[in-house]
Amino acid sequence: MSEKNEILLKVNKVYQPPQRVLEKALITKEEFDEMYKRSIENPEDFWADIAEKELHWFKKWDKVFEWNYPKYQWFIGGKLNITYNCLDRHVENGRRNKLAYIWVDEDGNEKKYTYGELLDLVNKIANGLKELGVKKGDRVVIYMPLVVEQLASMLACARIGAIHSVVYAGFSSNALRMRIEDAKAKVVITSTWTKRRGKKIDLKSVVDEAVDGLNFVENIVVLQREGDEFELEEKEIDFNEWIKDKSTHCEPEIMDAEDPLFILYTSGSTGKPKGVLHTTGGYNLYTHVTTKYVFDIHEDDIFWCTADPGWITGHSYMVYGPLSVGTTSVIAEGAPDHPDPGRWWSIVEKYKVNIFYTAPTAVRLFMKYGEEWPKKYDLSSLRILGSVGEPINPEAWIWYYENIGRGQCSIVDTWWQTETGGHMITTVPAYPQKPGKAGKPFFGIEADVVDKEGKPVEPNKVGYLVIKKPWPSALRTCWGEPERFEKYWSEIGKYYFAGDMATKDEDGYIMILGRADDVINVSGHRIGTAEVESALVSHPAVAEAAVIGKPHEIKGESIKAFVILKQGYEPSESLAKDIKMHVRHELGALAVPDEIEFVEKLPKTRSGKIMRRVLKAKELGMPLGDTSTLED
Ligand code: WT7
Repeated sequence: MSEKNEILLKVNKVYQPPQRVLEKALITKEEFDEMYKRSIENPEDFWADIAEKELHWFKKWDKVFEWNYPKYQWFIGGKLNITYNCLDRHVENGRRNKLAYIWVDEDGNEKKYTYGELLDLVNKIANGLKELGVKKGDRVVIYMPLVVEQLASMLACARIGAIHSVVYAGFSSNALRMRIEDAKAKVVITSTWTKRRGKKIDLKSVVDEAVDGLNFVENIVVLQREGDEFELEEKEIDFNEWIKDKSTHCEPEIMDAEDPLFILYTSGSTGKPKGVLHTTGGYNLYTHVTTKYVFDIHEDDIFWCTADPGWITGHSYMVYGPLSVGTTSVIAEGAPDHPDPGRWWSIVEKYKVNIFYTAPTAVRLFMKYGEEWPKKYDLSSLRILGSVGEPINPEAWIWYYENIGRGQCSIVDTWWQTETGGHMITTVPAYPQKPGKAGKPFFGIEADVVDKEGKPVEPNKVGYLVIKKPWPSALRTCWGEPERFEKYWSEIGKYYFAGDMATKDEDGYIMILGRADDVINVSGHRIGTAEVESALVSHPAVAEAAVIGKPHEIKGESIKAFVILKQGYEPSESLAKDIKMHVRHELGALAVPDEIEFVEKLPKTRSGKIMRRVLKAKELGMPLGDTSTLED
């Protein structure tokens, strides 16, 4: 058989879960189906039962759910604190000495934190924040590397009811400043540097620039890393000094289920990033339940989510979900392939990781390095492999299944978003899997593929992916911009629509095809074309710019920019380089176009809107489609 046919056969196969996965699984396929049915027929009872069983409440709710379109609430009147569920109850119930985190870096350093130690650290930070005058509802921005102090700072905010806004430490000072300003943060917590591929990346100077002149920022807490001796300026506090003599006791703030927990910014197709707001009760419940069932967590499991806490995946599946369930997580600072492409697999071997959750872009990177790298290590502890962030192409799925999973693991391809808080579409481990298809909606999620009017399309036909009703961890608003929140629920009927195209097959398996809007997905990160374009035109030489996403072997998509120069400027390599540097400074490395093409004109509609669709079709050598609205 030709290699191509062999791949086709594998791609079209339905993969039954391996016996060893089935033997352990918390729920069988039949149980999942039965629970799903109940969750849709009777969502309020379903969620109430689980909320009672899985979480600790200081006071029970009066009403499970209320929907005054477009607003909704869950567990109205219920009182809880997410950190109590993530820490105290485990410490009180025999898990005090169980590991919460195993942290490693590129140089082979390791630090371990038990649940007891983590609770103490969180309380010290919480007391430190209180001393700085941070109160319930105040905003704290966190701009830190992947260290336990980062995660503990998030939890410390939640402990006292402050709203955290974590900014990924790869973002530029401008991007950080916009987020600090938008939230009017009282305190910023940061660190001196992070290390990636052996190189120190300075974080502190990014913060210095970001807070310059922002008088409402009262304090900047700086975690100095080993070997650092920074002279701290006015308003700046040394993290370790700050917490040194603080009490390890801090009463958890009694939070209403609907009290805000955090803001996290994400890109849309227009304007500046949106501050997605999540609240306490529904988010705690939903991330807990998805962690438990989608990753099939057992008491002795070691879980490793390779994300960064700066993204929603880090919030939900490095911090709140795994801790609420009480599992042990590995967390790794630095790059996947440094000092060599065996790094991640050596970590799996060393810590006997059972559940491994990463992004397709990483899988494709390892495909490129070749299967000899994972072959060097004992990966037999792995039972479940997860994928998130972008569609996983079937070839990458099969490579992951065969070379990392050795045919002995279930793959969970989890579709969800910053806005959804937790997994929406996936198969649970005991469910048959189809490469490239995320699978079925999770408990309580009524997902469908519809046309513009909201009518279901036929099986295997392309349509818009919508969710018909609010779920517990759905975003509650966009910070300061309620109209942008309403847009999610009003573009296609009264359904939730956040921009993906999809198909659904005869068995109800959903395949995500990618974004329907002007959002580019680079290595699983959402980048708005509008943001990149406005960064481009803020360069003194640039008159106009348009940006498109192009298929990329490893990143999924890469950014290409078409640029019209102002009079007096000539296209050149060095100008292109300068423009790229400018975008890097404005937004961060993630948003820098791989390619810049200087053009004389951009295709526009008669009303002056840039037709990115036409640029993209031309770039990829595809039919231009309907060009009747094109200006000339
Ligand atoms: C967008 C959300 C959810 C955490 C990471 C990204 C794409 C996400 C999948 C998947 C196909 C996926 C979608 C979605 N996406 N997971 N398993 N299969 N596409 O969060 O930055 O809010 O981006 O990522 O396009 O809309 P985000």
